[in-house]
Amino acid sequence: MIEDVRHQPVSGRIAADLRGIPETALWTLCHRAAEAARPDTVLPDPRAVQLVAEVDLPFKERLGVARPWVAQAIALRALAFDGVVRDFLARHPDGTVIALGEGLETQFWRVDNGTVGWVTVDLTDPLELRRRLLPHGARQRLVACDARERRWMAGIDASRGVLVTAQGLLMYLQPAQAHGLIDACAAAFPGGTMVFDTVSRRFSARSRDGVRGPGGHRLPPMPWGMNAAERKHLRTAHPAIAEVTDVPLPAGRGLLGFLAPRAAAVPLLRGDRPLITRLRFGAGACG
Ligand SMILES: C[S@@+](CC[C@H](N)C(=O)[O-])C[C@H]1O[C@@H](n2cnc3c(N)ncnc32)[C@H](O)[C@@H]1O
Repeated sequence: MIEDVRHQPVSGRIAADLRGIPETALWTLCHRAAEAARPDTVLPDPRAVQLVAEVDLPFKERLGVARPWVAQAIALRALAFDGVVRDFLARHPDGTVIALGEGLETQFWRVDNGTVGWVTVDLTDPLELRRRLLPHGARQRLVACDARERRWMAGIDASRGVLVTAQGLLMYLQPAQAHGLIDACAAAFPGGTMVFDTVSRRFSARSRDGVRGPGGHRLPPMPWGMNAAERKHLRTAHPAIAEVTDVPLPAGRGLLGFLAPRAAAVPLLRGDRPLITRLRFGAGACG
């Protein structure tokens, strides 16, 4: 990480002094905002653009340059998650979305149907920053809790359907912790759905070696990696996991946007690529 010694606070803006893994919430935010600011954006998100203007942080010095192709890739990932949420809301209009490690994601405002219940779970500091920066209405609840604990599950209304999302979270957990969280969700939310993304084993190993990302920012270690060929094993990881499906990235702009939904068919990308996975848990009370 590049330490910023010159930065002076900007009056009227809210200081965002997150460090370590929580800081990655600012990294994804600034990439979505950079993409959203383009006239030809794949992910319109005026609230993300506004948020970046309201945060007091020297983004480039702390987080590196937001390269357009990385910004588009991050936005396509968010768009894929939006698709899963919209699909869930079409079946459960007043269901509950639990966004684990939500950071400064503005997904609620992109997908809100007026009846969804939304629970944000994050660590204390990023959650407090979110609380200060974003307006939260009666259907939104903020829970300061480590996702690896089970405390956040208390008080969840699962009666009208549950979708658990973990966008950009599980790679930062140890493999056993990531599997433990998936198992806990499968056991706690019968009939529910979970969607999460992962990096490949190779990418995970590189992150542990301390490589820098394309914008010059040192990537935090991502201990959990999973290759595409391993994903089928999730089906038997817990008896309540009834279905495991791939969520392809939507199409976008240019070569990256062309390849994004076709990555599974490209020999060089097939085995060694980030994945988005949807799990369905055996039917029960959630329907
Ligand atoms: C890469 S950011 C992703 C933020 C958001 N989901 C997005 O896509 O922009 C990772 C987020 O996970 C949160 N996080 C990391 N470890 C966590 C844990 N053990 N429990 C809850 N949240 C965690 C971080 O604070 C941060 O907000």
